[in-house]
Amino acid sequence: MDITVLDALTYAGDARSIQDLASVSLVEGDIADAGVVDPLVAESDLVVHFAAESHNDNSLNDPSPFVRTNIVGTFTLLEAARRNDVRFHHISTDEVYGDLELDDPAKFTASTPYNPSSPYSSTKAGSDLLVRAWVRSFGLRATISNCSNNYGPYQHIEKFIPRQITNLIDGIRPRLYGAGANVRDWIHVDDHNRAVWAIIDGGRIGETYLIGADGEKSNLEVVQELLAAFGRPEDDFDHVTDRPGHDLRYAIDASKLRDELGWRPQHTDFQDGLAHTVDWYRSNEDWWRPEKARVEASYASQGQ
Ligand code: DAU
Repeated sequence: MDITVLDALTYAGDARSIQDLASVSLVEGDIADAGVVDPLVAESDLVVHFAAESHNDNSLNDPSPFVRTNIVGTFTLLEAARRNDVRFHHISTDEVYGDLELDDPAKFTASTPYNPSSPYSSTKAGSDLLVRAWVRSFGLRATISNCSNNYGPYQHIEKFIPRQITNLIDGIRPRLYGAGANVRDWIHVDDHNRAVWAIIDGGRIGETYLIGADGEKSNLEVVQELLAAFGRPEDDFDHVTDRPGHDLRYAIDASKLRDELGWRPQHTDFQDGLAHTVDWYRSNEDWWRPEKARVEASYASQGQ
């Protein structure tokens, strides 16, 4: 199998991340550019649409790239897949469903109404709806997955867990937005990717599958687990300015994925997964170091 990665190589992309993979080639380009997208899709059997502007804090500072990449980019890919009758899988987020109360026993399912909060999540919600419309109106052979928060190697250091790991490596205290009570449903990136394979292999066309590994943790709990991994006291962190409109809690009911496709997460021990992730960032400083000062300066300008 040959895989072509189309990536705009913005601040969040790094060609080194895939350079050692056999049968994977990189094309540098923009998914919103039909001139780039069309010929690539024409020679493909399957499009897996991972590309997105993905960071909520950035979308609050400047929503425009989110509209262009997430909405116009998805539209451009869908049109190319339609013209060439190519199977399409769309990667999305649980954030399209908005948030849950901390004490609500409910979890998100594929029938939860869309209720996104941020410029980021609203553009992902819009992209999901485009995919659904292309299935219904044009018969596009597409599936959608909505996954919870990923952690693991190769995650950009603007994200919560790698930001705190690289802070701790640098002797900086972790930064917790607000009180740290917000809950995220953590899943290892390899489990996410295995679920995407399962949906590509066996998912029903037109269906949406939620991906999650029952990994709910408050942000405070995550910071304290990281502090423990570094042998630091559990109160050795700073509270910083909260994110405007900060979603309280996400939680995924992945029973459809489990029951229909037999998928199970393999990384079920979060502490162990975090320890391996810490090791990866310790061993791969060359990969993240060039971005660290810029990311921290950007957060500092927002009081975070
Ligand atoms: O739920 C899936 C989503 O998870 C994905 O669709 C997004 O692309 C991904 O960025 C992530 O969104 P979040 O906004 O939940 O992730 P983030 O890593 O930015 O933050 C996780 C939580 O940690 C959130 O409650 C905000 C908080 N936080 C974040 C940072 C960067 C802090 O307390 N301190 C921080 O320094």
